[in-house]
Amino acid sequence: MSNMFEIENLRIAFNTKRGELNAVRGVTLSIAKGESVGIVGESGSGKTVMSRASMGLLRGRRVKREGSVKLNGIELLTMTAKEIRELWGKQIAMVFQDPMTALNPVRRVGPQMAEALVKRMGMSKDAANARVLELLALVRLPEPEKQVVKYPHQLSGGMRQRVMIAMAIACEPEILFADEPTTALDVTVQAQVLELMGDLRQRLGMAMVIITHDLGVVATHTDKIAVMYGGEVVEIAPTKELFANMRHPYTEALMKSIPRLDRAPGERMPAIAGTPPDPVAERVGCAFAPRCAYATDKCHTEHPELTDAGNGHAYRCFFPLGAK
Ligand SMILES: Nc1ncnc2c1ncn2[C@@H]1O[C@H](COP(=O)(O)OP(=O)(O)OP(=O)(O)O)[C@@H](O)[C@H]1O
Ligand SMILES: [Mg+2]
Repeated sequence: MSNMFEIENLRIAFNTKRGELNAVRGVTLSIAKGESVGIVGESGSGKTVMSRASMGLLRGRRVKREGSVKLNGIELLTMTAKEIRELWGKQIAMVFQDPMTALNPVRRVGPQMAEALVKRMGMSKDAANARVLELLALVRLPEPEKQVVKYPHQLSGGMRQRVMIAMAIACEPEILFADEPTTALDVTVQAQVLELMGDLRQRLGMAMVIITHDLGVVATHTDKIAVMYGGEVVEIAPTKELFANMRHPYTEALMKSIPRLDRAPGERMPAIAGTPPDPVAERVGCAFAPRCAYATDKCHTEHPELTDAGNGHAYRCFFPLGAK
């Protein structure tokens, strides 16, 4: 069976004052129809750049894009901006990292949603208004009629996030990228939003990519997880397999930094010691080696390729955890 969405050896570099910044360094990822994928990694690991590029965005003169991104066999990277716009919303959609930047702060929620539907789908005004209420009910926004007359800042964070999700699924896309959809939310609301997205995925049959720095967020509601570090996928596995049998030391470090409910309020979770790699500097060995407790000389001088461990599990490490 061919995959609905195929990212192959995707590389994204920005031309910056400091030199070429390699944000994404050869990511390969395939997503089947209806599949749910988690992308996890620290700040700066390239999650947003990878997903925006996959959605056909990031097309400026300062951006170098290499590799391939195919939706149902059709290449997106070489499409014109106009061709991409045709797909946007209808086949591919994205919930952006910051809902406040994606919503117009000086317009009421209902009218701005309706206007987008009129523009995107050529609906009549009345039909669009009705559809807005339907969508808001679908994302379980309480009392939609009362919310549509409010301005974005009058909604809670969880409500705003639901509005964003409602907009993204308005045209029932085949694949939805959700960039940190729950970061700003408290734990209970976070769980509700994830529950909702899982529910919508099943109801609409769409594939979903959830991007987060918190491995705990994607422990449920995903079929597989890709762990990103320094612009690369360093480990990928079906979700259960990853938690039962993680091989990469970075995945282990991420696991230890999952926020836990039983931690005392105010108690800081253990951060991963050291700093992420400089995306401008030339890279020789393993990206994680400088922070890795298990690193040897080889790790500092040779770059590990992805090792296929079978059953959809692969990792980029010379000395994986659990090796005999
Ligand atoms: N438009 C841009 N121009 C130059 N550099 C950029 C641009 N966008 C992102 N970067 C750089 O690319 C790297 C990857 O950034 P990205 O936003 O993808 O990280 P992220 O994993 O999404 O982090 P976060 O968890 O903070 O959202 C970073 O070093 C960032 O500074
Ligand atoms: Mg990001």
